[in-house]
Amino acid sequence: MKDEILRVQNDAVAMIRAAADIRALEEARVATLGKKGSLSALSMGMKDVAKEDKAEVGQLLNAARLEIATSLDEKQQALEEIADRAALAGIDVTLPPRVLHPGATHPLTLLRERAVGILRRMGFALADGPEIEDEFHCFDALNTPADHPARNAKDTFYFDSGKLLRTHTSSVQVRTMEKCRPPLRIIAPGTAYRRDEIDSTHLSAFHQLEGLYVDSDVSLPDLKGTLEAFLHELFGSGTAVRFRPHFFPFTEPSFEIDVKLEIKGQAPRWIEVAGCGMVDPAVFEAVCGSRKDRVYDPDEVTGFAFGMGLERLAMIQWGIRDIRLLIENDVRFLRQFA
Ligand code: DAH
Repeated sequence: MKDEILRVQNDAVAMIRAAADIRALEEARVATLGKKGSLSALSMGMKDVAKEDKAEVGQLLNAARLEIATSLDEKQQALEEIADRAALAGIDVTLPPRVLHPGATHPLTLLRERAVGILRRMGFALADGPEIEDEFHCFDALNTPADHPARNAKDTFYFDSGKLLRTHTSSVQVRTMEKCRPPLRIIAPGTAYRRDEIDSTHLSAFHQLEGLYVDSDVSLPDLKGTLEAFLHELFGSGTAVRFRPHFFPFTEPSFEIDVKLEIKGQAPRWIEVAGCGMVDPAVFEAVCGSRKDRVYDPDEVTGFAFGMGLERLAMIQWGIRDIRLLIENDVRFLRQFA
């Protein structure tokens, strides 16, 4: 039995050493340590070994198992090393890698997502409307008379059909009220278009974030509290915010909102970030007219509205001096937001 064990062990080790590849090695593993392998067959013979020899034979069997297992491991490592070396043959692993620059979210998108996130947590739902608008939704329903300068062909992109590229996202206010009954609390981020001369603060296609809140008792303090809370969350709780009386055809009273910009080394200054106001009853009347019902009867509902320029907010947020940087796609600029 002892000789038998040594013979099986030596045969097994020889077979393992001779294995030319991983498959041959696996076959050797099965043929030796496998359930029906040579060593297992030997172990079965233990029951016929005389009692006084059992301890010694058992030790020999264990030693053989260990020896075979070690040979298997060693051979496996050796074969893997050979395979690795073959796979790398001809490849210069010391060559520096080509650096891949990962993409990044555009600052305008970052800003929009943050702004939308804050307002959604306040309970505003997202709304949408077409960029190619008609005069009714862009102007008439918003109480903007035919001779208003915003309607001038010099300021607005008109199509031959009489339609136009919306000059502001306020048209979404009208579209949403036409579709949905009050109470209503919506925001609408989107693109607006104006025939502006392009310079460091103007683009002919830019982005706005519109807001509208209509219910039975919405008041000016609601407007002020909501927009102050929004701006504090966006720019920091210490940011000074001021409401300056202004005029918009679709709100009364109307305000422009300024935040105080404090850049190190510069005198602090107020910058306008949004227009807002209490929805003008004339807007509710126009909506009643196109809905053919009175659910927006200005004697029953009140509301506030606001519209802000997203480029403007992004420029304040990151101290961007020229709005054109936002559309030039210069990676040296964009990479700073990665
Ligand atoms: N639509 C205005 C603009 O483009 C901004 C604005 C002002 C929107 C007041 C509003 C508002 O909703 O109430 O200049």
